Amino acid sequence: MTDLRTQVADLLRDHWDGQRGWCVPNPATYPHLWLWDSCFHAIIWAHLGDQRAVRELAAVLTGPTPGGMVPHMRYGGQPPDTWLGPSHEASAITQPPIYAHAARVLDSLGFEIPDPVLAGARAGLDWLWQHRRTPDGLLVVVHPWETGNDHSPRFDDWANPGHRHRHNRATRTRWNKELMFDVVLDDHGAATGSRSFAVATAGFNAYCAHAMSELAALTGDTELGVRGDALATAIDTLLWDEDEGLWSDRAVVGGGEPLGGDEDLWINPVVDPPADSVRIPISDGVMPALVTADAGKARRALAQLTDPDRFGAPFGPANVARTHPAYDPDTYWRGPAWPPLSYLFTLALRRWGLDRQAEEIAEATLAAVERNGWAEYWNPETGAGHGAAPQTWSGLALAMSAAGS
Ligand code: GLC
Repeated sequence: MTDLRTQVADLLRDHWDGQRGWCVPNPATYPHLWLWDSCFHAIIWAHLGDQRAVRELAAVLTGPTPGGMVPHMRYGGQPPDTWLGPSHEASAITQPPIYAHAARVLDSLGFEIPDPVLAGARAGLDWLWQHRRTPDGLLVVVHPWETGNDHSPRFDDWANPGHRHRHNRATRTRWNKELMFDVVLDDHGAATGSRSFAVATAGFNAYCAHAMSELAALTGDTELGVRGDALATAIDTLLWDEDEGLWSDRAVVGGGEPLGGDEDLWINPVVDPPADSVRIPISDGVMPALVTADAGKARRALAQLTDPDRFGAPFGPANVARTHPAYDPDTYWRGPAWPPLSYLFTLALRRWGLDRQAEEIAEATLAAVERNGWAEYWNPETGAGHGAAPQTWSGLALAMSAAGS
């Protein structure tokens, strides 16, 4: 069998668009640039020792940005049929800012990062701080697509009030598309709010705090470091769920019936009673282990990644606790294992010295991609692939293994 490195190099090369300078995640299903996917591609290129690492990171950060916001998609040609904002080049919403961690990885592997790329990363994080911060110091997403986890069970009280766990993929996708029309755009065409959906998710806040500390470590930007620490503290204070041993999400706008008449964008009181689906045990709720200073919380959450009664599964952590009624190992963001999440878990585990568990996840991921031909995501019980295949971010299997060697 060809070695892992060669297989991953072939995977990325086959998806590379040399004219635009990015990989498409999959040419049929995902023929554009997606923010966090391309950051993961840059990380994979860097592990391959390929200069395209820098080009792909630059493609994320140095194209047009509505007022500084880094768009969740840049279009490779015609915009998609779904309405994603007024621009013909890029979407009006954002996605997890993995670019700062990517920059750190590139730097650590000896790549030189051009100043405009670092400046774009700083501007993107600044934009989030200026435009998405709640009065109590958390950051909100204004659309599920901004989290990466498009159909999170934690959003069920918005999507299907009263019918939690009755997930239908097509209906949910339709709801997500309609929700784009509730997004509030500023003069630059960037989404700064929503009339019906704003959530401070554990995952997104963790990604942002992690990004701030990664970029601060890389550039010596103390203001950014202070912001990252403040955000990590707010996550622990406001999102920790002692019963679940995880960080939950916080409803900021919507999440129940009725929404109420206040049109005050996301600085709205939450509905009464507040959404409860925000506490469903999903593995995104482990992500603040990337940034918390609290060893007790981190270890309690991280232990669940390999606990079979929670997320622990033979082919990598399930995205929903295996014992929870919402768990569906074959459906999209309702239970499968996802390579980008598994990669981030290995970072969090290594941060806390849990190298053996990180290695276990890296090996489970490798076993899965060998079985399913580099799928987008898979059944964590059997490794059976789902979604698009081959999908570029499954090449993270190489980065996960390399990080431990
Ligand atoms: C799906 C995923 C999202 C990803 C995109 C491209 O929409 O939910 O996280 O960025 O596909 O791979």
